[in-house]
Amino acid sequence: MNASPAAAGAIDWARVRADFPLLAREVHGKPLVYFDSANTGQKPVAVIDAVDDFYRRHNANVSRAVHTLGTEATDAYEGARRRLAQHLNARADELVLTSGTTFAINLVAYSWALPRLKPGDAILLTRMEHHANIVPWQLVAERTGASIKVADITPHGVLDLDALHAAMTPDVKLLGVAHVSNVLGTINPVAAICREARRRGIVSVVDGSQALPHLAVDIPAIGCDFYAFTGHKMCGPTGTGALWARPEHLAAMPPFLGGGEMIKEVRFEGTVYNDPPHRFEAGTPNIAGHIGLGVAAAYLDDLGMPRVTAREGELLAHLDEEMRKVDGLRIIGNAPDKAAVVSFLVEGAHAHDLATLLDLEGVAVRSGHHCAHPLMRFYGVPATCRASLSFYNTHEEIDTFITALRKVRRLLG
Ligand SMILES: Cc1ncc(COP(=O)(O)O)c(C=O)c1O
Repeated sequence: MNASPAAAGAIDWARVRADFPLLAREVHGKPLVYFDSANTGQKPVAVIDAVDDFYRRHNANVSRAVHTLGTEATDAYEGARRRLAQHLNARADELVLTSGTTFAINLVAYSWALPRLKPGDAILLTRMEHHANIVPWQLVAERTGASIKVADITPHGVLDLDALHAAMTPDVKLLGVAHVSNVLGTINPVAAICREARRRGIVSVVDGSQALPHLAVDIPAIGCDFYAFTGHKMCGPTGTGALWARPEHLAAMPPFLGGGEMIKEVRFEGTVYNDPPHRFEAGTPNIAGHIGLGVAAAYLDDLGMPRVTAREGELLAHLDEEMRKVDGLRIIGNAPDKAAVVSFLVEGAHAHDLATLLDLEGVAVRSGHHCAHPLMRFYGVPATCRASLSFYNTHEEIDTFITALRKVRRLLG
């Protein structure tokens, strides 16, 4: 990330941190150091209050009841869609609200890819994808006879763009690529990649789960066909997220799930489906959650995403510098353009042991395969530890983490 101290300094980050009540708690008698924001982010009071207020004062189902509460709930839900769209420089009717990235990518797989792909076609993925951007495509490949191709990365954890572009052969109909890797932190040049794909008639699906917490994302400027993301990593509630899609795709896609909300008229002889995006939102949605996500988008816009990026760039630079001084520590992923996500291993220690001992020091890091088995295999490891930061973390927490890491390293011999 390109850190600009001037931009980051324009905000009182201690005051911002105070917006996140959970960060004040203790774990094992120690102040919590929450370095697991790539897993799920903590929530500001504004988001918690919005969810609470919905259930206390406005709770009703959406798009169904004409009574006052029904109208209030529908207005708030659709208002949240508009607020989220504003955050992404997109149009509200281009956003299908989903339970998160997994649902969003499966929606593309089932509604766009399944009816179109056939034997001889290929789906191109990168080595650094999360399982959510691998397994749905395997399901499509199994059912259509299409094949999966994989574009490789360098040992530093950077996409080999020449190899990726060379892999965009005429049989490739769809490309799945992460905007930011959840393991390596690598920020991929998705606008350039999607431009290249589009030039060759390949439909692009960008997994933006790890980008939205860290970067200002202007989805139309990326030039992709689909952009999937999850709300809980960007200060929003769990079970929220969206699929952005080009309107021409949404208009041409059949529904993924059938039920309430996604219809105009149902007869036993046949059903007339609703217009997008509601055509793809069958059943009662996560109303309170998405209202909270709209507030999260507004919260991030108030901070200013360029300032968030700059702040996290400063934290990452500090973290990276200090981690490199710890003996026997291996950092996996050294891309020059990186979000505040650092995967690491300590010589001779299992990642879970490391994370368990760090927890006893109050430090929460994730350990495991991070839903990226192919990437673990590429690096020849079963698991890593991952420290992932957000703008609400502090330089002092980084120092606490480094002290804990040295202690744990000594304990593990
Ligand atoms: C890169 C990436 N893609 C997809 C997902 C899946 O997101 P969700 O579980 O919210 O659907 C995650 C979550 O960890 C992720 O990091």
